[in-house]
Amino acid sequence: MRALSLRLIVALIVGVTLVSLASSWYEVQAEKDALRRDLQHKAETFGESVASNAELYLEAGDRLGLEQMVQRFSNRDHLLGIGIYNADGSSLAMTPDLSAVLSDTPAGLTNALRDNRVESGSMRLHFRRVYMLAAPLHLADKSVAGGIIIVYDTAYIRAAIFRVWGRVFVHIAIQMLVIVGLTLLILRWSLTGPIARAALWMKALRTGRNVAQPLARDLDFLLPLTREVAPLAASMKEAREAAEIEARLRNTNESRWTAQRLADHVRSKLNGSNLFVVSNREPYIHNRQGNTITVTVPASGLVTAIEPILCACNGTWVAHGSGNADAETVDSNDRLKVPPDDPRYTLRRVWLSAEEEEGYYNGFANEGLWPLCHMAHTRPTFRASDWEHYNQVNQRFADALVEEMAGEEHPVVLIQDYHFALLPRMVKDRLPHARIAIFWHIPWPNSEAFSICPWQQELLDGLLGADLIGFHVQAHCNNFLNTVDRVLEARVDREHFSVKRNNHWSSVLPFPISVESSDEIIAAGERNAEEERSALIAELGIEATFLGVGVDRVDYTKGIIERFLAVESFLERYPRYQGKFTFIQIGAPTRSRIQRYADFQAEVEAEANRINDRFRRGKWRPIVFLNRQHTHQEVRRYYRAAHVCMVTSLHDGMNLVAKEYVAARHDERGVLILSRFTGAARDLLDAIIVNPYDIQSTADAIAQALNMDIGEMIERMQRMRKSVKEHNIYWWAGSLIGDLCDLRIKKAKNTKSVKAFISKKATKES
Ligand code: G6P
Repeated sequence: MRALSLRLIVALIVGVTLVSLASSWYEVQAEKDALRRDLQHKAETFGESVASNAELYLEAGDRLGLEQMVQRFSNRDHLLGIGIYNADGSSLAMTPDLSAVLSDTPAGLTNALRDNRVESGSMRLHFRRVYMLAAPLHLADKSVAGGIIIVYDTAYIRAAIFRVWGRVFVHIAIQMLVIVGLTLLILRWSLTGPIARAALWMKALRTGRNVAQPLARDLDFLLPLTREVAPLAASMKEAREAAEIEARLRNTNESRWTAQRLADHVRSKLNGSNLFVVSNREPYIHNRQGNTITVTVPASGLVTAIEPILCACNGTWVAHGSGNADAETVDSNDRLKVPPDDPRYTLRRVWLSAEEEEGYYNGFANEGLWPLCHMAHTRPTFRASDWEHYNQVNQRFADALVEEMAGEEHPVVLIQDYHFALLPRMVKDRLPHARIAIFWHIPWPNSEAFSICPWQQELLDGLLGADLIGFHVQAHCNNFLNTVDRVLEARVDREHFSVKRNNHWSSVLPFPISVESSDEIIAAGERNAEEERSALIAELGIEATFLGVGVDRVDYTKGIIERFLAVESFLERYPRYQGKFTFIQIGAPTRSRIQRYADFQAEVEAEANRINDRFRRGKWRPIVFLNRQHTHQEVRRYYRAAHVCMVTSLHDGMNLVAKEYVAARHDERGVLILSRFTGAARDLLDAIIVNPYDIQSTADAIAQALNMDIGEMIERMQRMRKSVKEHNIYWWAGSLIGDLCDLRIKKAKNTKSVKAFISKKATKES
């Protein structure tokens, strides 16, 4: 550091000195020129007046007069002397100082007499630098009668120039002092300080202490380095945690799923095959804000689960490119390598027109299939035009997938959710050797309810193109098998939970999805529950003693209004909690282009306002509705602070909020109120299970949660945490892909055209 400081200071001093000298040199030259011009002007004016007097004396032949006149004029600033000569150059009169240094007739005068013109210039006279002006003197008839010289001592000009240089050197010296001082200060503030902080951070990482990364502004110019080191640090932390967990699990003979175990498991199951994942939402979204492009990871458990697998086997993820800068960040094949800071697998983006997105996503998927599969009493809407777009977009994804899988011998395909019911068949027809699974993340209703869909046969047939069809719970598998049995010509094997159609078997199995749950210690800077509660209460500007929390997309299936009504009923039935209990609803806006969602958003707001207006007093309010997207970190704060978390979905495939709350409670405190209509209610038996339609019972559940004996609370939470840890997201992905790879796939001998089959069946039925 010392050598760097020295080099920097020397370089700055040399640079600044050179620049100062160059600019001062120009300044000095200008000063010198100005003084000279001034002297010349002075000499000319003075010369003219002396010459006109001298000419009079010459005309009169008055030599004595000339001498007296010369003496009279001799007392001028910087004037060395005056000399008058006759026409042949011999001296007639001269001031004594000049005659002391001038022995011969000056050449300038000789030239002036010869050429009859004024001569001037600088010269040396007896070691003195002088300026001399020589001019001819004329008689009245214009004949040259003699000459005059005016000589100035120019020493004062040199003295003035020296003074200027003196000032320049003083300035340069002051500048140097300032530069050295400032450089040392800046080095200390912006270099030595940040480096010391970064070194401390790295040391903490190396020694395994839990220290938060210094702030970006603290690292300032080290930012590019930090960008590289931060993921390295994260990987180190993960690796250390994974190693610790593995060691602990080995000691306790437990078998826990970790990202690393999942990656190894899937690599061995794939046995060299490549993995292709398809989902509507992409794992990385690029958006442009002004001149910068930002990348966001949607808050989705799926990304957490699928990413380690794709990273481990260098797979491909095909998804809808929905960010406004997505097109700018792909190559000519619409691909890019992700994760952005450590590219390990390929993201292939599929583009949709506004009409396609409207028909396929808003229309068929979210106004049709979503309410069809969720029994939340919102009527599904099926439009032929939406169905067309749904077909078209599934076909578009099939084309992209087939393109990506070109040349693959045994590709393994994992399709996600209700956006792609037709995709398994489309891909299987074109690539029969591909191993295909589709996971249906939402419930599957009973066959009666599903029969509302005018295209139920096509949807079922599309799904049965898959080798494995996954649901969250067995009940949804059973509903699916019943629906197939009722609608399609196919053999349903209930013993093995599989369906045979066109000589192709599809297994139908439950894989309850989960969250990433770790034994991680509370991260540096994280507060305990009580501190977090006080901090959040202060940030929200409210007063409260007990906190409840709910976290959802503002979706009519989530039972948000029922939850608010339960809070209202709780405050009525247990009035001692008025002024004390506040329920915080984090509600992320969702699918807002669909009218039902826009209406629901307004209904939720109105209900919160109504209840607040009824009970509010002072700074206390019963409900705080935070209507925006929150990051995982933000939500975790509420989970850790809340006495009770409420999940009151009217119908839900799984509901990961319930599992997230449990995973976030490292302190083993907090109570979960959970709707019996969620998949999670089958895994989290220690939650207080409620029927969200039964408002009074749900209100009583809040009272039960707030009054629960601490011992019981801890026991319940411990059991739920054990269940979530054992069956975490890595376990889910490992089981799904493991089962898909282990399936014995019998090749269809005689695959009929699906459409032909369906139309034949339809004719038969009619
Ligand atoms: C549900 C679906 C997911 C979907 C998510 C968010 O959980 O099962 O497939 O991604 O909702 O909805 P969005 O429409 O914003 O993708």
